[in-house]
Amino acid sequence: MARFSLTTPLYYVNARPHLGSAYTTMAADALARFARLRGDQVLLVTGTDEHGQKIQRTAQERGLAPQVHCDQMAAEFQALWEKLNIRWHRFSRTTDPRHGVIVQEFFQRVWARGDIYLHQQQGWYCVACEEFKDERELLPGRFCPLHPQVQVEWRDEPNYFFRLSRYQAQLEALYQQQPDFIQPEPRRNEVVKFVAQGLADFSISRLHLDWGFPVPVDPSHVIYVWFDALLGYLTALLEPGEPPSLAAAVRTWWPVDVHLIGKDILRFHAVYWPAMLLSAELPLPKRIFAHGFLTKDGQKMSKSLGNILDPFDLVATYGSDALRYYFLKEIELGKDGDFNEERFVQTVNADLANDLGNLLNRTLKLVHKYCDGRVPTIPVPQENPLAEYGRHLGEQVAQAYERLALHQACSLALGLAQRANKWMDEQAPWQLAKTGAQTQLAAVLYSLLEAARLAAYLLSPVIPQTSTRMYQQLGYAVDFDHDPPLAYGEHGQWGALPPGQAVAPPEPVFTRLGTAKIIKF
Ligand code: MSP
Repeated sequence: MARFSLTTPLYYVNARPHLGSAYTTMAADALARFARLRGDQVLLVTGTDEHGQKIQRTAQERGLAPQVHCDQMAAEFQALWEKLNIRWHRFSRTTDPRHGVIVQEFFQRVWARGDIYLHQQQGWYCVACEEFKDERELLPGRFCPLHPQVQVEWRDEPNYFFRLSRYQAQLEALYQQQPDFIQPEPRRNEVVKFVAQGLADFSISRLHLDWGFPVPVDPSHVIYVWFDALLGYLTALLEPGEPPSLAAAVRTWWPVDVHLIGKDILRFHAVYWPAMLLSAELPLPKRIFAHGFLTKDGQKMSKSLGNILDPFDLVATYGSDALRYYFLKEIELGKDGDFNEERFVQTVNADLANDLGNLLNRTLKLVHKYCDGRVPTIPVPQENPLAEYGRHLGEQVAQAYERLALHQACSLALGLAQRANKWMDEQAPWQLAKTGAQTQLAAVLYSLLEAARLAAYLLSPVIPQTSTRMYQQLGYAVDFDHDPPLAYGEHGQWGALPPGQAVAPPEPVFTRLGTAKIIKF
C-alpha cells in the first residue's frame, strides 16, 4: 500500500484559530481524504506552535502561565477542526516533552557537523513574525510590513547561529534538479531569486527568554521558535507513546509528501528547513506547496479594519460542507482569494443545492414513479453525452487532486451534475414515460442517477456530508466520514451503480443557505 503524508503548518497559539489556519487545514483534509479514496495509507499532521516571545507575552497579558494558555488554545484548534470535519491523525504540539528530546537530538547533530556558532546578533526583530527584519523592508516609524501595527524591536545580544550560507550551493542544486520541490511556479521563482542573492546565517537561539527549550550546549539561551517548530513535523511522526528519537521519527512517514503552507512562511520551509535537514543528514520533504492569502471583500482582514471573519461563527452559521466547498472550489490553491458573503451564499446554493441536490432529487422522484424505486437495468455500454463525459472524469479529477488543483477537481465533478440537469431537460424522461419508451426511459434514468453518484463520489473529499447523504439515497449504506474508503478504481469510474439497487425516497441533500450577517465590527 502506498503511503501519503502531508502537513499543515503548526499554528501559533497567540490567538484563537483564524480563517487562514482553517483554510490550510480544510485543503489538507480534502487532499488526505482523496489519497484515502485512492487506496493510500494516509497521515495528516497538524498542530500548534507554542513557544517563543509572542506566545509568552500573550499568556502574560492574559495573566496565565504559558502552558495553561497553550493548553486552552490547542483545545480551541482541535475544537474547530472537529467542527470543520477535519480528520487529522497527528496533532503536534511543540510543548510536548517528547518534542524537547527531538529538538535536542537534532541540535546536537547539527552542532556536531560544525554548523552552529556563537555570534553577536544586532537587528530589528518583529515579535509577531518572530523574525529579524531588514531595515530596508520596514514601514516608516519602524513598523513591520506584515504587521503594520507592530513596531520592531532592537536586539543586540549574543545568539547561536546556524550556518545557512554553507548550504547555498546544495539548495540551488535542489531547486534545479527538482523543479516541483516548491509549488506553485511563482513561489518557486521567488525562492530561487532570494537564494541567488546570497544566504546569510541566521540566529537560532534567544537570550532573555524562557518560554522555549534550552540550548543543549548553553542553557542560558532558548532555541529560536522557528528552529523548534519546524522540527515539530518530525516529532509528529512518532507513534503514540513511542520513545522519542530522530531515528524513530523518520522511520515510517518521513519524508512527507507535502508541506502545505501559506505564502508568508515560504522562506522558512523552502530555504531554512531543507538546509537544517541537509545539515542533520536527513532526507528532504518531497514537496512544499504555498497557498495564497484570503481577503474579506477585497480587503486584508485585520483587527483595525474590524473585518476579521471568525471561522467558529462561519461554521456554526453555514456548516462545514458549505465552507469547505466555497474555499476549495472558488479559490485556486496557490492564488489569493476573497470571501464575500453574498457570493459565498450564491455559489454554494447554486452548486450544492441546485446542481447537485436537485439533480438527485428530481431523478429519484422519477425512479420511484417509473422504475419501482430501483436503479434501472440498462443495456451496456451506454452511449450518451453523460457517459462520454463521465468515462474520463475519474482520471481527470484524480490528476487535479494530485496537482493540488482542488478548484479544478471540484469544477470538473460539478460539471457532470450540470450537464446531467441540462440533459434531463432535453431528454424529458416524463415524456418518454408517457409514450411508453420504457428502454429509453430506463437508460436515461440510469445515466442521471449515475451522474449524481459519480459527482458525489468525486466531491466527497471536499463535501463528505453531502456526498454521504447522496450515496445513502442512492441505496448505499456508507458514510464518507467513517467507513473504509470506497475504492477509486470502482467508484471513481462511470457505471459503478448496480442495476436493481433499491434507492431511498428523495430528501434534500443540501439545505439552501440564507445570508446571515455575521461579520463582527
Ligand atoms: N507557527 C508558524 C508556522 C510554523 S510551521 C512549522 C505560523 N503560524 S501562523 O498561525 O501564524 O500561520 C499559520 C498559517 O496561516 C500560515 O500558513 C499562514 O499563511 C496562514 N494564514 C494566516 N493568515 C492568512 C490569510 N489571511 N489567508 C490565508 N492564510 C493565512 O506561521
